[in-house]
Amino acid sequence: MEKLGEKRRVCVTGAGGFIASWLVKALLNKGFMVHGTVRDPSDEKNAHLKKLENASENLQLFKADLLDYNAVASAIAGCEGVFHVASPVPAIKVPNPEVELIAPAVTGTLNVLKACCEAKVKRVVVVSSVSAVMMIPNWPKDKVKDESCWSDTEYCRTTENWYCLSKTLAEREALEYAEKHGLDVVTVCPSFVIGPLLQPTVNSTSLFLINLLKGARESVENKRHNFVDVRDVVDALLLVYGKPEASGRYICTSHMIKFRDLVDMLKSIYPNYNYPKTFVEGDEGTLVTSEKLKMLGWECRRLEEILIDSVECYRNAHLLSKD
Ligand SMILES: NC(=O)c1ccc[n+]([C@@H]2O[C@H](COP(=O)([O-])OP(=O)(O)OC[C@H]3O[C@@H](n4cnc5c(N)ncnc54)[C@H](OP(=O)(O)O)[C@@H]3O)[C@@H](O)[C@H]2O)c1
Repeated sequence: MEKLGEKRRVCVTGAGGFIASWLVKALLNKGFMVHGTVRDPSDEKNAHLKKLENASENLQLFKADLLDYNAVASAIAGCEGVFHVASPVPAIKVPNPEVELIAPAVTGTLNVLKACCEAKVKRVVVVSSVSAVMMIPNWPKDKVKDESCWSDTEYCRTTENWYCLSKTLAEREALEYAEKHGLDVVTVCPSFVIGPLLQPTVNSTSLFLINLLKGARESVENKRHNFVDVRDVVDALLLVYGKPEASGRYICTSHMIKFRDLVDMLKSIYPNYNYPKTFVEGDEGTLVTSEKLKMLGWECRRLEEILIDSVECYRNAHLLSKD
């Protein structure tokens, strides 16, 4: 039972990651006590967490691999809510996807949910991905995908899209587990997340934009891409946590833009980076909607602001070789 005057306590898994760091910052700003799980609390890559405002009094770090149930359960004990953010997001193809991706995503999620049941957590917000929504073969190209769409796991396997498979299996398991055990679980499925970094290391999706600016790609497919800012993802996570009526899945995406138009927008603000020179027409890319999240009250930043804040952050951190 929460005692009068006692601070509300929540757990964030994978606290040192790109999205989770912004979430921890926002929760600390709102006055929550935060239990953050990290695999190695002494690693320099998690040092930024301790420097966040209110962290010295209100942030407690727990050492926990997602596959270690007891460690996960210790971090969740005493919390009213849990944000399950941790899951591997590899920048390159992994040699052993079952071990490196599927097990931490699926078994890790089940470990978190089991611990939530044991701790009588009131609501769990699980970070899934549009990867669990959009991998559907033979989908009509102008038909928009919404929360009723699920990636086809067989298709993910045959196309060796292991990350999509890991997120699809994990989210399905989460919602099934919730149903079976009467646990309140809400999932949020962000599209491609960019925005400024709080952590000292570079995560996979930020690396994609950094490499684009550094000229790593001469030629790119002129597909539609769906982007969302990391701070808007955090707003979505807090919104679904706080609204009692929130339930099921929520796609979280703000801007759909073709690659050539994205590069043109970047060029108009930052003309001197080493942008791709050729654009190959082909697959159109996916149309997804965040209407359900907007109906709950979610608002998002303009794309220009997201790009400027991202690039300025990379420049300040000397991540772009031209600086
Ligand atoms: N970035 C995107 O575009 C995007 C889009 C949709 C959904 N998502 C989802 O958002 C979440 C966070 O992603 P991110 O972009 O913030 O990437 P990130 O910075 O790489 O964060 C991933 C986190 O997962 C942790 N993790 C991985 N395997 C683990 C394990 N076995 N045990 C404990 N922790 C483990 C990592 O911890 P270590 O630091 O110890 O490795 C890291 O903190 C993921 O669930 C991802 O699928 C991301």
